Amino acid sequence: MDDGALTSDDLKTDRTSETGKTGANTRKVFVKTYGCQMNVYDSQRMGDALGRDGYEPTQSIEDADLVLLNTCHIREKAAEKIYSELGRIRDLKAERAARGLETRVAVAGCVAQAEGREIISRAPVVDLVIGPQTYHRLPDALARVARGEKVVETEYAVEDKFEELPKSERRQIIGRGVTAFLTVQEGCDKFCTFCVVPYTRGAEVSRPFAQVIEEARALADAGVREITLLGQNVNAWAGEDETGRAIGLGGLIHKLAVIPGLARLRYTTSHPRDMDEELVAAHRDLPSLMPYLHLPVQSGSDRILKAMNRRHTADDYLRLLDTIREARPDIALSGDFITGFPGETDEDFEATMRLVREVRYASAFTFKYSPRPGTPGAGMDGHVEESVKDARLQELNALLRRHQSEFAESLVGKRLSVLVEKPGRHPGQIAGRSPYLQPVVLPEAIGEIGDIVDVTITSTGPNSLLAEGMTKPDPASSRKDEAPTMRSVA
Ligand code: 5AD
Ligand code: SF4
Repeated sequence: MDDGALTSDDLKTDRTSETGKTGANTRKVFVKTYGCQMNVYDSQRMGDALGRDGYEPTQSIEDADLVLLNTCHIREKAAEKIYSELGRIRDLKAERAARGLETRVAVAGCVAQAEGREIISRAPVVDLVIGPQTYHRLPDALARVARGEKVVETEYAVEDKFEELPKSERRQIIGRGVTAFLTVQEGCDKFCTFCVVPYTRGAEVSRPFAQVIEEARALADAGVREITLLGQNVNAWAGEDETGRAIGLGGLIHKLAVIPGLARLRYTTSHPRDMDEELVAAHRDLPSLMPYLHLPVQSGSDRILKAMNRRHTADDYLRLLDTIREARPDIALSGDFITGFPGETDEDFEATMRLVREVRYASAFTFKYSPRPGTPGAGMDGHVEESVKDARLQELNALLRRHQSEFAESLVGKRLSVLVEKPGRHPGQIAGRSPYLQPVVLPEAIGEIGDIVDVTITSTGPNSLLAEGMTKPDPASSRKDEAPTMRSVA
């Protein structure tokens, strides 16, 4: 769910994005997004809703009449970062006030949900706290702020926020490019003992079939070629198709695969327990379902998996991968791992290393265990020293990184389909993504943004693949935004 770069220390710890363009004589909103893709999606929907309310996005926080932080609560550092950011925003608000300008500050997302009014007590600069289930009420909440209220909106709404939210406009979709996120499921009933999600995002809820299909069609009509279906437990999605037949995510993907224009489908994040036959069959039957699966395992030790309440063993996971690979032999795997969960011994960690050696992930996200208040893990015995967590993280990363580059090297000389996404960094280049989400640098003449082109991979760059016609770039000038797929968060 999160990102960074190749070593754990110098990694960006969140998928922070600052979106927008400026316009004259309108109110401006600066949105900063932390955490997972679901937050990226939520920020887009909030931005679109604010657009209807007269707000133009800006990338310059100094110009913003409204600063909106969409926050993540998954690890302690994620929440602490919000408070230090709010400290900087307090100074900014004072500077703007000295120039006679008013600045409203809103905190949304999982920190908002978890901490509620506490945020305003700790950071009085905040005018509005709004949870992930209530953000369709944002324009109304801002109107209350304008009347001088401090507003906290974290009750779970009875109404369906997706029904209440205005539909994103075509120009808003086009502005975001040829790939899009689409949240189909929210919340989690799994209660892994380390995780705050079941508390911040609530119980598992699936968006209705018709709503998802309608949104996917609108995206495709606006030129989107690839959709990533999102959910905290996306493969727990359940619904009824247009005939009233009960279907799971595999069935939904079958229906999405026939929407004209949509060439690529992905989904994230999945729980091994919810990988059912229908979904495995979708991997077998649908070429547009990309052969890349993010399937977190967290640990390779059965003892730790049990303590984590993952409800599967390492062997269950490996057998599941056998079944998936049988259905789609070219599938590449990605995973999440936690080092230093309470009680983790050297042998437990070794079991994780063994599992990684067996699976050979194409990419991975790694985390040091971070005790989250209110979760069972935080109260367990046997907390592991930070230095041990860290040493294990480094060792795990070194192995995953080796596998990742071996996987990239294995593609050299092969033909891959690439979705062309944006201009390249240098003249004569364009940039796209492989089926395995790797950035690919291509010669410009090969096609236009939105095209899917077949190319031969000739070499690997620091964080990308190079297609025929491209020469290896100077490593010092590699693009920052060509994020590698091995990510680690301290
Ligand atoms: N500490 C460390 N990592 C965590 N994750 C979730 N909660 C914690 C925690 N308390 C990781 C898991 C999950 C990913 C999104 O974040 O690996 O799959
Ligand atoms: Fe958290 Fe586990 Fe649910 Fe994933 S499955 S969101 S890790 S509780």
